[in-house]
Amino acid sequence: MSETRVTIRPEIAALAAYSQGRAAAPDGFKLSSNENPFPPLPSVVEALADVPINRYPDGSGIALRTKIAKRYGVAPGEVQLGSGSIAVLAQLLGAVGGHGTEVVHAWRSFEAYPSMILVSGSTGVPVALREDGSHDLDAMAAAITERTRMVIVCTPNNPTGTIVTASDFEAFMAKVPPTVLVVLDEAYQEFVTDPFAVEGVDLLGRYPNLVVLRTFSKAWGLAGLRIGFALGAEYILNAARSAAIPLSVIDHAQRAALISLDHELELLERVADIAVRRERIANDLRQQGWRIPEAQGNFVWLPTGAATEEAAEVFARNGIVVRPFAPEGIRISIGERESVEALLRSAQEVVQNLRKKPADPGLD
Ligand SMILES: Cc1ncc(COP(=O)(O)O)c(C=O)c1O
Repeated sequence: MSETRVTIRPEIAALAAYSQGRAAAPDGFKLSSNENPFPPLPSVVEALADVPINRYPDGSGIALRTKIAKRYGVAPGEVQLGSGSIAVLAQLLGAVGGHGTEVVHAWRSFEAYPSMILVSGSTGVPVALREDGSHDLDAMAAAITERTRMVIVCTPNNPTGTIVTASDFEAFMAKVPPTVLVVLDEAYQEFVTDPFAVEGVDLLGRYPNLVVLRTFSKAWGLAGLRIGFALGAEYILNAARSAAIPLSVIDHAQRAALISLDHELELLERVADIAVRRERIANDLRQQGWRIPEAQGNFVWLPTGAATEEAAEVFARNGIVVRPFAPEGIRISIGERESVEALLRSAQEVVQNLRKKPADPGLD
């Protein structure tokens, strides 16, 4: 019998589609996607009303790129936009990856990395996190071969929340060949309170092979509009522009980001509130006996191990949707103030269940 189905790349046929954080019940809390719980700024909502949707957006994004450039002290050519920072990562993978090349990244890290690397044609080289949930930068540097085209460093790391310090990052960069692109994924940078954490923008002048990814999805609260950006050398970002899907950053997103940049202080006050809430939650979880890694993003990580699915069910019964990564742990976003009590109550219930078992890896 002749074949009647089109030929799918076998590695794609074997790949599961990206699985999004589940929605919550109307009276529950969605703490599964690291979103910002605050409502959009009224000025953003207002400005979206009259965007002409019968016209294509401004594909160059020049007004926004110019504003971002000014904010971060670079030139507009050193800024690239994408429909989410994830899209800019895809552009960069398209620009440097491909068959026969390798991309080194920490694992566990952002769940989209392995599939995006595979789709780009590259081979992912995952490097295990250290015991404390942080990147093992020595092992990542040692994993670089002549086939490596990109190394992704995620700080704070999703889902463990740990940062890379500035001194560790600089020591790492000294070992990376200048022909290998280092992508510093700083999706959660604005939530960082650790003074020793690396901040990529400060290092762009020093490392020509460094590209920093930032997003308007988290601190800036625009996840639904899909807009993020990269900062780095113009020739690298020109290659990303060549690899981009044309016109995918819509004018609504560009406008919302422009207005948000004018309200940075107000938005950063919200970020500070979330960081304070995170500290309180992390401390209370430690009091309950949880051995949780340093939490520097807008989320905390519970090492629930083999009990992960069961623990996620406990949270769900209490109206809290979390993100389980079985059999390692659970990532819980810092959400509405009203969600905190149910979050801590659920975590306490999980502790009680785990204490009844012979091995409770995540507890002190
Ligand atoms: C580490 C990390 N990088 C990138 C992204 C993608 O963000 P966006 O595409 O919304 O900018 C996320 C989203 O959760 C993330 O956790």
